Amino acid sequence: MLPLLLCRLKKLKENKNLPIYNSLVDYKKKFRSSFHTPGHKNNFFSKFEDLFELDFTEIKDTDDLYNPRGCIFLAQDLAKRYFKTQATVFSAGGNTLCIQAMLKLSTKVNDKIICSRNLHKSALYAIILLGLKPIWVFPKGDNLNRIFINQITAQDIKKSLEKNKDAKAVYVTSPDYYGNMCDIRAISKECKLLNIPLLVDNAHGTHLRCLNPNIHPINLGADFCADSAHKTTPTLTGGAFLHVNNLSFCSVSPLEAMSVFGSTSPSFPILASLDLCRDWMQKKGKEAFFDLIKKVELIKSISKNHGIFVQDGLVDPTRISLGTPNIGYTPKESAVFFRRYGVEPEFESDFFLVLIASAFNTNEDFCRLERAILNLKIKQPLKIKIPKIVQYRQDVLPREAFFSSSKRVPIKQSLNMIVAQCVCPCPPGVPLVIPGEKINETTINLLQSYGVLEILVLK
Ligand SMILES: Cc1ncc(COP(=O)(O)O)c(C=O)c1O
Repeated sequence: MLPLLLCRLKKLKENKNLPIYNSLVDYKKKFRSSFHTPGHKNNFFSKFEDLFELDFTEIKDTDDLYNPRGCIFLAQDLAKRYFKTQATVFSAGGNTLCIQAMLKLSTKVNDKIICSRNLHKSALYAIILLGLKPIWVFPKGDNLNRIFINQITAQDIKKSLEKNKDAKAVYVTSPDYYGNMCDIRAISKECKLLNIPLLVDNAHGTHLRCLNPNIHPINLGADFCADSAHKTTPTLTGGAFLHVNNLSFCSVSPLEAMSVFGSTSPSFPILASLDLCRDWMQKKGKEAFFDLIKKVELIKSISKNHGIFVQDGLVDPTRISLGTPNIGYTPKESAVFFRRYGVEPEFESDFFLVLIASAFNTNEDFCRLERAILNLKIKQPLKIKIPKIVQYRQDVLPREAFFSSSKRVPIKQSLNMIVAQCVCPCPPGVPLVIPGEKINETTINLLQSYGVLEILVLK
């Protein structure tokens, strides 16, 4: 079996007509230090290398993801114990699948749900598919970024709950792409007072379980939590955990909800990597993330001393978001510069260069990053013009607008029209406009600044 496989792989390598395969091989040859996902940094090989050989399907000797009685049941049970939940289930369809399932589990059609507007597009599409009525809560403060950078507060949620007494759930994203976190404990208190569930998109925070103290949303009172494990912990891309901490809020079982949206052929290598990930977190995670945080603190302090803007406050201590315009470079320019030093960032927003560090980054990775930062010659700060985010009017429900007849119009002619599509730069995947919102002057400026020339609007 193995020689045959190796022979096939060799053949594949020789074949030039393989755009995806060859581009991955070419990227690998650059030996860049990965400050992007996946969290294993291609550096967790001892266990992952044989996963190709283990790509089996749901047969008698393996198990059935949506009706587990064997190894998947045991693996999920181990994860449940580790994360201290009432149920933890595995997704080979990314966090997107977990978000779809947790919204399906906790709501019914036409339910009102209080949502922070800095949500990921996967949540928006789930809201559309499930026919929910979102009540948006907008992060306040000076927006350093067109995509909302500030987080919502427990006070914001409380106010919205007071105005919407019939709301059936609260949905927040924490941490966000830049590392900003919500006060989950305080928001959870507000939800518990009304006996409604708190759902947290914790895509960027699986590792928070390894911190001391444990600041994983489940430990702070979330009822549902979706972890994109592949982002910051050693899991193959596509691996995610859905945690449920209050089964009484569930209309069906968590796996039934997953099966509504998930493939009937989940990847066993991804499922096995979730198992390996949980085992690693349990045995080595605390120590490894303690070390990582010290390295990240050093990088942040070097950056600050160099004049780069670095966020503080309630932030994920492992995320590195560098405000390089403060020393004269757009994030795009600094990304080009960092690449020369062998550092590949996750993404460049308007203001921040975002780097995702994990416990699998090597000391060499951090040395390269330090060198790149220190070699950025300090120049005059850039004045980045960032349009203010408006509190859009949701005139029509997202589902209604999304599924209605629409027409494409030039953005310049779209004033006062109702949007019929989601416009969303990815990353970070936070929609600029969503179906049902009314376009005003600010929206037009915002979309134009992203190079959007046309938009779908209601007929
Ligand atoms: C905040 C947030 N939520 C959800 C997702 C979707 O996760 P996945 O790509 O694992 O499906 C992402 C992906 O980037 C994200 O940033």
